[in-house]
Amino acid sequence: MKAAMNWNAALYDEKHHFVSTYGQDVLTLLEPAAGEKILDAGCGTGTLCHQLAGFGAEVKGVDLSIDMVERAKAAYPELDFKVADLTDFDLGETFDAIFSNATLHWVLPPEKAIICLFHHLSPGGRLVLEMGGRLNVEQIIQAIFAALKQRGHAVFSVENFWYFPSPGSYSTLLEQAGFEVQLVHYFERPTRLSGLDGMRNWIEMFGAYFFRDMDPKETEKVIGLAVEKLKPTHFKEESWWADYRRLRIKARKPL
Ligand code: BEZ
Repeated sequence: MKAAMNWNAALYDEKHHFVSTYGQDVLTLLEPAAGEKILDAGCGTGTLCHQLAGFGAEVKGVDLSIDMVERAKAAYPELDFKVADLTDFDLGETFDAIFSNATLHWVLPPEKAIICLFHHLSPGGRLVLEMGGRLNVEQIIQAIFAALKQRGHAVFSVENFWYFPSPGSYSTLLEQAGFEVQLVHYFERPTRLSGLDGMRNWIEMFGAYFFRDMDPKETEKVIGLAVEKLKPTHFKEESWWADYRRLRIKARKPL
């Protein structure tokens, strides 16, 4: 999980800005109010923290990636960003709300992250999150597996670096930690990737774990094969599309 988070933050902002664009809907669900203390768990380069601050909230952002946090600090020096591992952190304060967009599917084990989030909420505080849900990017995963096999490489489970839970299993984990689950929405959201190399860029950036022991030339071949396999189903109207499935949840820490 940690290796996969070692992203190039500039590339992330340039080519994968749809991540924060889609975060707007999650912000709407959060209903941030002026004066509230809000934690963004997995703040990336800080775009959504900046928007939260625009509502008059007192915002703090945490992320595992040093590169992302440095970029967030440079872009929004008035805001408070910290490097933190969501499975093991203690900011020594609690928040009225915790917000998390497109992060928790990278955070293993989920139970530890949920305990940390619960610990950082004030009684009555809310957690609003969106993450990849069950079968998220499943067709992309299968295309990568087929390309790996075709080139004679071993195939392994993605469970060591991506966690795409079903609505039921994630709600159960939240309840076991003490949360009251108030809303669960699991839905397909085909997501347009930027540029004619959108799928290649997506696999290179987010699928790096598949190729961690492979030399760059071979990696390029495997990714090229996977992209070719995906073209008939994932390239439409001159754009690449990723088969995202989202899990959106609102939960509350009891008073
Ligand atoms: C997602 O947001 O669903 C996602 C992003 C990168 C890799 C896997 C999933």
